[in-house]
Amino acid sequence: MILDGTIPAHVSDIESLSPTLKRFRFEPERGHFPTAAPGAHILVTLRGPERVWKNAYSLVTPPEQRDAYAIIVRRAEESRGGSHFLHDHLRPGDRVEIGAPASLFPIANRARRHVLIGGGIGITPFLSFLPVLRARGAAFELHQYCTDAETEIFGRLLTEAGGAATIHGRTSRRAIAEILADQPLGTHVYTCGPERLMAAVEAAALDLGWPSHSIHQESFGGAGGGAPFHVRLARSGRSIAVSETQSLLEALEAAGIEAPCLCRGGACGVCLTGVIDGEVEHRDHVLTEEERAGGRLIATCVSRARSGALVLDL
Ligand code: FES
Repeated sequence: MILDGTIPAHVSDIESLSPTLKRFRFEPERGHFPTAAPGAHILVTLRGPERVWKNAYSLVTPPEQRDAYAIIVRRAEESRGGSHFLHDHLRPGDRVEIGAPASLFPIANRARRHVLIGGGIGITPFLSFLPVLRARGAAFELHQYCTDAETEIFGRLLTEAGGAATIHGRTSRRAIAEILADQPLGTHVYTCGPERLMAAVEAAALDLGWPSHSIHQESFGGAGGGAPFHVRLARSGRSIAVSETQSLLEALEAAGIEAPCLCRGGACGVCLTGVIDGEVEHRDHVLTEEERAGGRLIATCVSRARSGALVLDL
């Protein structure tokens, strides 16, 4: 049953994969979860004693699995608190609310070959790509970049997901341009991981003359901080302060405002909100150059004010 866009569920298992990685398994309170597309992610709402977190995570379960969903979460040093809460406080049996899966990183059906390049925890969407690519008999290769300490665990996860992969530890890695060179026409590349890796993949592909429509990225980089600022909500007249470690979306939520969101990483456009006054520092991946220059929209999950204050159409 989906209530208010969320599915009541509970934690059925927590598996420690490494000192900083845990796999969380959720089961619905009743019935089944919806079928998810490969690479889909879910918004998980966690209610702590003092605050609520809404975080987006890639599903790592095979798309057809509906009795349970699983996610893998790294306990980030620079976390807004969601990953710490998951790692330190969530226990089997705890209730969570799961948003219906959203597909923002689909497999390109017309691609003749697929090159998947993950960095660190950016492996997660590919764990649900693999069973689908194998079932379709698709031509693909997967390259996972990580620290030497994580080559073993990522190798295990990829084997479990049923895919052969090349793991590139720090001391033995192949250049991205080398991987992309000489791929047949019609190949698509998918990348998920740190911004630096995704930028390197995009630059290498464009340098080699790949069309931009064959380059796919999944970014869950999060908001990052910045200078504090204020927003005034034109419709209610309320004024809200956004601290240097908070996103605008988090500040709106902390003020009790039901702000729309989905990916919380600047990728889906669900949180786009009208700007009536002030200058925006755009950090999203959805607005066009023209829309950015127009300055009338802001992705509240990642973007901030360049001027000290903004007036929003809220
Ligand atoms: S919630 Fe997806 S772009 Fe902001």
